Amino acid sequence: MTSNQPKSIIVIFGATGDLAKRKLFPSIYRLYRDGRLSEDFAVVGVARRPLSNDEFRENVKQSVHHFQNESEKQETFASHFYYQPFDVTDLTSYQELKSLLSSLDDSYNTEGNRIFYLAMAPDFFGTIAANLKSEELTATGGSIRLVIEKPFGHDYESAKALNDQIRHAFTEDQIYRIDHYLGKEMVQNIEVIRFANAIFEHLWNNRYIANIQITSSETLGVEDRGRYYESSGALRDMVQNHMLQMVALLAMEPPIKLTTDEIRSEKVKVLRALKPLTEDEVDDYFVRGQYGRGLIDGNEVIGYREEDSVDPESNTETFVSGKLMFENFRWAGVPFYIRTGKRMKEKSTEIVVQFKDLPMNLYFDNEDHTHPNLLVIHIQPDEGVTLHLNARKSGNGTTSRPIQLNYCNNCEDKMNTPEAYEVLLYDCMRGDSTNFTHWDEVALSWKFVDTISKAWEKNKTENFPNYESGSMGPKESDELLEKDGFHWWPISITR
Ligand code: BG6
Repeated sequence: MTSNQPKSIIVIFGATGDLAKRKLFPSIYRLYRDGRLSEDFAVVGVARRPLSNDEFRENVKQSVHHFQNESEKQETFASHFYYQPFDVTDLTSYQELKSLLSSLDDSYNTEGNRIFYLAMAPDFFGTIAANLKSEELTATGGSIRLVIEKPFGHDYESAKALNDQIRHAFTEDQIYRIDHYLGKEMVQNIEVIRFANAIFEHLWNNRYIANIQITSSETLGVEDRGRYYESSGALRDMVQNHMLQMVALLAMEPPIKLTTDEIRSEKVKVLRALKPLTEDEVDDYFVRGQYGRGLIDGNEVIGYREEDSVDPESNTETFVSGKLMFENFRWAGVPFYIRTGKRMKEKSTEIVVQFKDLPMNLYFDNEDHTHPNLLVIHIQPDEGVTLHLNARKSGNGTTSRPIQLNYCNNCEDKMNTPEAYEVLLYDCMRGDSTNFTHWDEVALSWKFVDTISKAWEKNKTENFPNYESGSMGPKESDELLEKDGFHWWPISITR
């Protein structure tokens, strides 16, 4: 790792795009404003469109102007930004970029340290990587890193082909595959909650846990991403990466040290223990859905098939729920249920760990029910932990009632929680790749997901759309848990 104020030039491919504007510029700004970046940094934006440095700097200022009363700081910040019109297939573009970078190295003392951030459609990832190497933009003697946004391939085969191409130009250590969920404060907290608390780790196994549920629901539809989403669907968009990463963090063994290699090797190990499905089994373990019309926050919204750039008879799933089983000593027999979808009732990501009931209950509530202990990890929008326990109902010696112990991470000062991209960019600048996905994890996740997508492509469903916008998904998703004697814990109970 390098110093806490890393020096680097960040080259953003796709600098006129949405991600740069919404996430990357504001994240770099926060790092700068908070003193985690010194003055020794520069950002070079490249994209097809012709823009001058001044026009580009205006865009940058626009994207951070919501941080109020800081216009002077924003002016200095924007002066670190440069723009170069770029054709990714033309080697002259790389030559020009190379001389710009070496002159910036002199002005900003960045010592040949470069981050190449590919924030654009993946079609050219391989070409860019190869050209960066052939034109010697990576031969600087400084630290070289390549940051790649998803989608990393479309299935295992295409991901492997892409990886092979990139690996010709960059070593695995230099490649930072972004999964922005790994930058979320409470996702990073999963390991701490598990491994820094004696009361949980001893119970974290199939003797005491009945099931684990992970829900990541969104209220937004596909917006203007219909074209991408048609070829992706919720399975590739959310399950292959974010959902399986959270599963891995919940299920992995404690690493022997908190080093990148040790953590990754535990994640890889547990992903290898994921029970593979055959195509015939997919319908018993996974449910797909597609949203129809409905109400979101009281407003009528259209169905997926009516969205822009979406086939009116589309078979693409906008919702997935599934049951994952591990074949290892710790987890044999414990279902991990996952659920994610667009146009659902609430925007929320939450993990519920449901503990097994006591062998014998002495206490019941007013209605003769017992309440299992739950540990709820709120990832977003609330960040925190709630532990559901039972306590005595006052004035009634044998009746219990459920109570909740609550910890809220972002209640006091919401501004304190850094954004995922900010965390990940800073990690990358310092050379810490722990919260990025290693190729082995990507490969295992694709192999698991490929069986499901193959089965679904072969058996087109007849019943799309099968959930209303503003609901929690199709009824089959509820039935998936009911078959096992469980139910989804409603998001609202956990607050
Ligand atoms: C992205 C998906 O990776 O994650 C989007 O491509 C999805 O479709 C988004 O909306 C969800 O991220 P978050 O941080 O809003 O939960």
